[in-house]
Amino acid sequence: MTRYPRVLIVLHWLMALLILAAWFTGEGGRSVRENPPLLHFLLGLAVLTLVLPRLVLRLALGAPAPTATSPLLRRAAGLGHGVLYAFMIGLPLTGWYAASRMGVPVNVFGYTLPSLTAAVQGSPGLIAELHETGGTLILILAGLHAAIAVWHQVVLRDGTLRRMSLSAG
Ligand code: HEM
Ligand code: HEM
Repeated sequence: MTRYPRVLIVLHWLMALLILAAWFTGEGGRSVRENPPLLHFLLGLAVLTLVLPRLVLRLALGAPAPTATSPLLRRAAGLGHGVLYAFMIGLPLTGWYAASRMGVPVNVFGYTLPSLTAAVQGSPGLIAELHETGGTLILILAGLHAAIAVWHQVVLRDGTLRRMSLSAG
């Protein structure tokens, strides 16, 4: 195997776009209660919906052997990818929890999802703050991850980007 299975490549790029779009549509503060960002909810929930089948497919189909030769670097890459997966699960869940705390119904195509917790009047609290910070942190981590991938491609010339690419060549 020299590149990731096609379905994992499609999911990788689709979810990267969804996360970026969720970040752009995210809103904080008072306006969320008055005018809930439904598109933000939808994009974020799409990430949550896709990450579970992605993980199952990743376990079932596997991945090409890592390019790093040192065991330490392999561990670091695996850990970094694990952190990104953890964010893809944790972020949407904390967002959904934050919306529930604010008493904002999470509407998806006319269907209202159940509340994860009781609503409060004032500040939505720590989990909501973690969500806001985490929402930006995942972009920073993904940016670092992308920079490492480009560094592999351009400096080490080990064809790393090709492993996550559908195009021939
Ligand atoms: C929000 C954005 C992104 C997220 C959450 C993300 C997440 C991930 C994860 C979790 C993996 C590990 C796949 C696995 O082995 O199961 C991965 C692999 C990969 N990603 Fe990303 N990624 C993002 C953006 C990008 C960007 C912008 C690039 C390139 C510029 C990129 C290039 C790659 C490459 C080349 C691999 C394969 C690495 C290898 O062969 O070990 N990713 N990504
Ligand atoms: C990958 C998925 C997600 C990302 C990257 C993300 C990112 C963000 C960011 C950056 C903010 C802060 C915006 C600002 O302060 O200007 C935010 C706020 C918020 N997001 Fe998300 N979000 C995601 C998923 C979700 C989901 C699935 C929900 C609900 C179902 C949600 C509900 C909220 C709520 C209620 C706030 C306001 C929190 C507050 O004001 O305390 N998010 N999100």
